[in-house]
Amino acid sequence: MLDTILLPAEDLERDSASLDRAAEILKAGGLVAIPTETVYGLAANALEPACVAKIYTAKGRPSDNPLIVHVDGYEMVETLVAGIPPRARAVMEAFWPGPLTIILPKSDRVPLETTGGLDTVAIRMPAHPVARELIRRCALPLAAPSANLSGSPSTTSAQHCVNDLTGRVDAILDGGECQVGLESTVLTLATPVARILRPGAITREMLLPLLGEVELDPSATSPLAPGTVAASPGMKYKHYAPKAKVYIVQGSLPQYAALVGEKVGEGAYGLVFTGEGEALPIPCLEYGADGVPEEQAHHLFAMLRQLDEMGAHTVYARSPSREGVGLAVYNRLLRAAGFSILTLEDA
Ligand code: TXA
Ligand code: MG
Repeated sequence: MLDTILLPAEDLERDSASLDRAAEILKAGGLVAIPTETVYGLAANALEPACVAKIYTAKGRPSDNPLIVHVDGYEMVETLVAGIPPRARAVMEAFWPGPLTIILPKSDRVPLETTGGLDTVAIRMPAHPVARELIRRCALPLAAPSANLSGSPSTTSAQHCVNDLTGRVDAILDGGECQVGLESTVLTLATPVARILRPGAITREMLLPLLGEVELDPSATSPLAPGTVAASPGMKYKHYAPKAKVYIVQGSLPQYAALVGEKVGEGAYGLVFTGEGEALPIPCLEYGADGVPEEQAHHLFAMLRQLDEMGAHTVYARSPSREGVGLAVYNRLLRAAGFSILTLEDA
């Protein structure tokens, strides 16, 4: 058991001592949960196999699931990759700092422990000022998966990190709520045609003008077919799942209301759009306005955690549209639901 300290980091100037403390811990080989604009990250020195090993232990994560390396500038990127091809540079300059992870062939400096044995490395320059300043102060690239126990919904507040990681990390930096709320888009440029392995706030539509062609990995919307190798190893594991059994319900609001009307008294909970809960016969949480995926993204993981705290054992979720950032919301909800979808037909 580690003695986990909670360090306030809402204000870079006022909380400068917290960042110094966190940087010292990381330089000494420790683990720190850090805020980013997407979700909290569980950070350690990306260049030291022993440090990276601690991340896998703290999360209970399978060691073939590679980590994202977080950087604060292009000089750091250059030490991690074999080279930055022009199309990669163009995408970096357009979307960094921000919620986009780019995969490229790795340099020898990146240990195989960090990449789960792969010869490629995933890199991201986060936009959150606390994350950037911390990387600058410790002058180390930081490996950081989402700061949740493996399989659970990602953490979007320091309180979520306290719940999952107390005793498992040296410190938690409290930088407030994460703005985006879902993990970064993962884009591989290690293949001839660019490919999105995990949808996020940077969408295919946004990448297309720069790259010309962008494929979407089938794992974004369907389970891995038996016998196939996952392009992104993380996609083969059960993910983002609360303790409750989640169903995605596809259909109109009246159809949804009729369905949950039959579940009254069975401990069923609803995960619905803003303004819908009141008229429904089961207790509901509202995860954002219908058709506003940015809002849904911001709240989804916090609500999945809240449903567990409320003791929900079955959750019926209104299906988000798959347009734009909605695809990322749908992708996470699909995994939280273990791909269980109820499609309601017109009567
Ligand atoms: O927003 C984010 O990306 C957050 C914050 C903390 O930056 N991090 C995050 O990390 O979500 P994690 O470890 O939970 O997800 C990383 C994903 C996994 O699905 C992993 O398999 C994939 O990226 N990945 C990492 N390196 C890869 C590589 N070399 N090739 C293919 N997939 C890779
Ligand atoms: Mg994760």
